[in-house]
Amino acid sequence: MSRTVLIASDHGGFVLKGAIIQALRQTDWTVENLGPDCTGSCDYPQFADKLCQRLLDAGEDGQNGQMLGILVCGTGLGMSMAANRHQGIRAAVCTCDFMSRMARAHNNANVLCLGERVIGQGLGIDIVRSFLGTNFEGGRHLRRIGQFDTTTKP
Ligand code: RB5
Repeated sequence: MSRTVLIASDHGGFVLKGAIIQALRQTDWTVENLGPDCTGSCDYPQFADKLCQRLLDAGEDGQNGQMLGILVCGTGLGMSMAANRHQGIRAAVCTCDFMSRMARAHNNANVLCLGERVIGQGLGIDIVRSFLGTNFEGGRHLRRIGQFDTTTKP
């Protein structure tokens, strides 16, 4: 099955988004850029919602990690807050590749959030590589992430 990474940003994450897209061209991931197409000021929740909806439409578990999302804004914070409002989305702001590896392995994060004003391009691309290259470990971690949604609490 081909693997797809959805990516979107706001104006604050536009340049890092471009660098990530460029880096992913050398991998077997298919990249879908959900915008914006220019650096004009825009509202990050619109792009977070667009990406999360597209990911959830493909199935809550992102087809077992075959579809993942990346959201880039100035800090990664606004994007993660907006994304985590969607049930079934587990968005993680990461500032190092240890965090992005753990976000996948332990938290089954399906969206990576990055801050262009926080990290450089080289680090950003490393974080993306770790995120996309790590699988969820399941087991006890599945039980724990199952407790995220209030409806599943005892
Ligand atoms: C835009 O100026 C900035 O607020 C946004 O990119 C993001 O950092 C919000 O969390």
